[in-house]
Amino acid sequence: MSQSAVAHIETFPPEPVTLFKQLIDAFSKQSIDGLTLMNLATVDEEFGVLNRNVLYRGLSDDDCIIYVTQRFTRNFKNLQANTKCSIAFFMPQVVLPSQGPNPALWQVRLIGATAEELPDSQLDAWWEKELLSSKIRDYVFPCGQPVEYQELVAKHDQFLADHLASGQPLKRPATYTAFKFRAQRWDFLKVGSGQIPDRVQYRRQPNGEWLATHVST
Ligand SMILES: Cc1cc2nc3c(=O)[nH]c(=O)nc-3n(C[C@H](O)[C@H](O)[C@H](O)COP(=O)(O)O)c2cc1C
Repeated sequence: MSQSAVAHIETFPPEPVTLFKQLIDAFSKQSIDGLTLMNLATVDEEFGVLNRNVLYRGLSDDDCIIYVTQRFTRNFKNLQANTKCSIAFFMPQVVLPSQGPNPALWQVRLIGATAEELPDSQLDAWWEKELLSSKIRDYVFPCGQPVEYQELVAKHDQFLADHLASGQPLKRPATYTAFKFRAQRWDFLKVGSGQIPDRVQYRRQPNGEWLATHVST
């Protein structure tokens, strides 16, 4: 029998980051290795717009989303040339007690976001949290260049062996960097099986406060 219903974002706190934290906490318990991905779109001189999936690293002290990258990537160059960007999180199954007992799919978008590179003094703390594989990638892998696969593997294995033999922690390379994002709008979409999605959009007001309303999909 066919069914239709309208999803409902039942309660929403005054600050968008509070709802975001609730979702991320619930989702990361169910995701592989507790990792959460976000899709980052940047303005690109050659292609107009360019997007990619990247790892969500956490929140800054002032509750902004943190993104870590390398100064040699295209997305770094894009953000340096034009700080405007857009970010989307896709969380296919989340159970959030404040939103009822059933699992729902959530999308969170940061609309009209701008990227701000973190000062050097804050980078070591983020570097320490990186997985070893990410740290090695930062040292040995070029980005976006054609490569001979076996050469890459040999380079990686040699680097890993040298690192383990040294017994020393890997120092943060000069190319490692991070951004935080500020958004004009946070857009939350919730949908369950056989439902039409509900959205709540937080719009930043001229006085800096957030105005949250349901928005049709
Ligand atoms: C699961 C996953 C996580 C990723 N996380 C990052 C990341 O945190 N930072 C990053 O620079 N690239 C990350 N990448 C690689 C990017 O998707 C992209 O391929 C790379 O940054 C090059 O993008 P560009 O074309 O903007 O240079 C990740 C890719 C995947 C599949």
